[in-house]
Amino acid sequence: MKILFLDQSGKPGGAELCLLDIAKPYGQNALVGLFADGDFRKLLQENQIPVEVLATQAIKVSKQSGLFPALSSLGQITPLINQVVHRAKKYDLIYANTQKALVVGAIASFFARRPLVYHLHDILSQEHFSKTNLRVAINLINRCAALVIANSQASKTAFLQAGGKPDLVQVVYNGFAAKNYEVDELEVSNLKENLGLKDKFIVGHFSRLSPWKGQHILIDALSQCQKNVIAMLVGDALFGEYEYVKDLHQKVTALGLENRVKFLGFRADIPQLMAVCDLVAHTSTAPEPFGRVIVEAMLCGKPVVAAQAGGAMELVEDGVNGFLVTPGESQELAAVIHNCLQASTKIANIGNYARISASQRFDVHTINQQIQELLKLIILNK
Ligand code: UDP
Ligand code: GLC
Repeated sequence: MKILFLDQSGKPGGAELCLLDIAKPYGQNALVGLFADGDFRKLLQENQIPVEVLATQAIKVSKQSGLFPALSSLGQITPLINQVVHRAKKYDLIYANTQKALVVGAIASFFARRPLVYHLHDILSQEHFSKTNLRVAINLINRCAALVIANSQASKTAFLQAGGKPDLVQVVYNGFAAKNYEVDELEVSNLKENLGLKDKFIVGHFSRLSPWKGQHILIDALSQCQKNVIAMLVGDALFGEYEYVKDLHQKVTALGLENRVKFLGFRADIPQLMAVCDLVAHTSTAPEPFGRVIVEAMLCGKPVVAAQAGGAMELVEDGVNGFLVTPGESQELAAVIHNCLQASTKIANIGNYARISASQRFDVHTINQQIQELLKLIILNK
């Protein structure tokens, strides 16, 4: 099976890291077409996945764009569509991994006569998208896609509520190789020492810096915790959210937490950094479509506290393999941090159980097989 994957981003966000694992088994039978250059292209190359940057200009439409920018971008994407049509003729199907890839992929699938698969990584609701954007996405999917792979039940439900066709959609979770999350103890203690965090209770937060990812909630919670609790924020403003980064730093200063909040920026050593943590916090204020970081923390054997909404509710069972708190409620988060500080044996057991169950439930080989079976059916039925 030969697959042309399309993704609009040059940056390695969660959807892109998921795509990396899906494309890998296809080797030279895959081509990833990107609409922007960046570190994601390098990551694909390091993993021997064929990649081409197909666009030289960024497409000027955002999740909140209205009808006018959407229409005016059509002229801009024509050369890109031509490139995709040309490439698609050598592949069995087009696999769109992001919304702009869906738009380009849908039109190209018509001209190249190749089936279109859309991997839905988003919750298609007005909390995340403008009305125009939602309407365009649902219409294109309903008319052009042969299959929608939703990254969670929550994403599937939002798709159906927005008017998506029920017979198109299948839920497939992100897959992970558990062995990538096994970390050497010595490496962990060295890292902890290098970060100057020995003898501290470390609450890690792993996400791009963006208002809806809610890093400010963790900072608020920290101000309600005892002084040996430290927040380690791993991630960068991947999509230009520099105002939010400024706000976060101002908040830290205003609350006098300069010595208790570490901003580490974007890092590639996530398993090692998670292993340094005593607790991993997920604080999204809008429903998280899936939440890779939640599963990754589990695979590292760490207790995770997550915002109770969206896909996170399918991953975490409160008090069993982690903790759930009301989104946006820093007091609840502070209370969980406090309880974890007091009950080290209980949280170690929770982390351990989370590791074992997550390594079975999200095994990358099983999940890739599931996807392959779905794709085979699409090709057979075209
Ligand atoms: N991540 C990373 N380096 C960082 C911060 C995050 O590699 O500095 C990774 C993280 O390990 C996870 C992904 O980025 O695999 C984020 O995916 P998630 O589904 O949690 O959120 P998204 O940003 O896609 O909404
Ligand atoms: C998107 C979502 C995130 C999900 C990831 C992988 O980036 O925001 O919740 O985990 O895709 O499916």
